[in-house]
Amino acid sequence: MDVKTKSESPIVVRGLKKAFGKVVVLDGITFELVSGQVTCVLGRSGTGKSVLLKLLIGLQKPDAGTIQLAGHDILTAPLTELNDARKKVGFLFQQSALYDSMTIGENVAFPLRRHGKLSDNDLRERIHKLLESVDMDRDLDKMPSDLSGGMRKRVGLARALALEPAIVMFDEPTAGLDPITAAEIAKLIVGLRDRHITSIVVTHDIHTARTIADRLIVLDGGKSLFDGTFAELQQCKLPFIAQFMKDAA
Ligand SMILES: Nc1ncnc2c1ncn2[C@@H]1O[C@H](COP(=O)(O)OP(=O)(O)OP(=O)(O)O)[C@@H](O)[C@H]1O
Ligand SMILES: [Mg+2]
Repeated sequence: MDVKTKSESPIVVRGLKKAFGKVVVLDGITFELVSGQVTCVLGRSGTGKSVLLKLLIGLQKPDAGTIQLAGHDILTAPLTELNDARKKVGFLFQQSALYDSMTIGENVAFPLRRHGKLSDNDLRERIHKLLESVDMDRDLDKMPSDLSGGMRKRVGLARALALEPAIVMFDEPTAGLDPITAAEIAKLIVGLRDRHITSIVVTHDIHTARTIADRLIVLDGGKSLFDGTFAELQQCKLPFIAQFMKDAA
């Protein structure tokens, strides 16, 4: 590996391109996340935000570009190294994606059983702590179908945090939630920053982005049109950004 491109940054993306057939979704995306920051990725529906996250976690392959995840070049790394890199990343999918046939406790236990070697007692304690951190410890024995959307997101977050990731990726964490519940989720994301966890949050929700983001990246037409703070975004004179801010307000 080229030593000069190695970085302390938790995620480094350079020249990322992805097309489906003739539809070019990402057309040369480059950014470097800062450790411990919350970075929000904004953009209209269909601009490739979810595709970007899928590329970052290695669920899809880009057509061109490089991705370093926790210091591992995930496009060239052997499988064992790729798995090591993935263990450092927690992921909260757009639909929470809880296992419907498992209780809340079992959902959170799943990654711990799979990757960890905890005794039954330690496992129980860890599940309790994780669910307590999202204020869901009283609902341990419930099924996902018994929960509201906001509760499901919180359990999804507890599960994403199970392996103590250095990086957490969120795809639309507040979509479909009322403003109060959205604010609770936002608070949990900000809480991760206090624990020095790096977050990347894909969202349509400009209000949440304003509350939580240290930095925002706006995608459109396959390009990153803006990369900066919310105050800079408000000052940005690019016509697309000005219109985007108006529409999103
Ligand atoms: N597996 C796939 N095969 C073909 N096209 C795909 C695939 N995945 C995504 N796309 C296309 O890529 C584009 C970007 O999709 P993506 O889901 O990333 O959008 P998004 O920005 O997350 O939108 P939203 O805000 O609605 O969630 C869309 O045009 C979508 O149809
Ligand atoms: Mg999406």
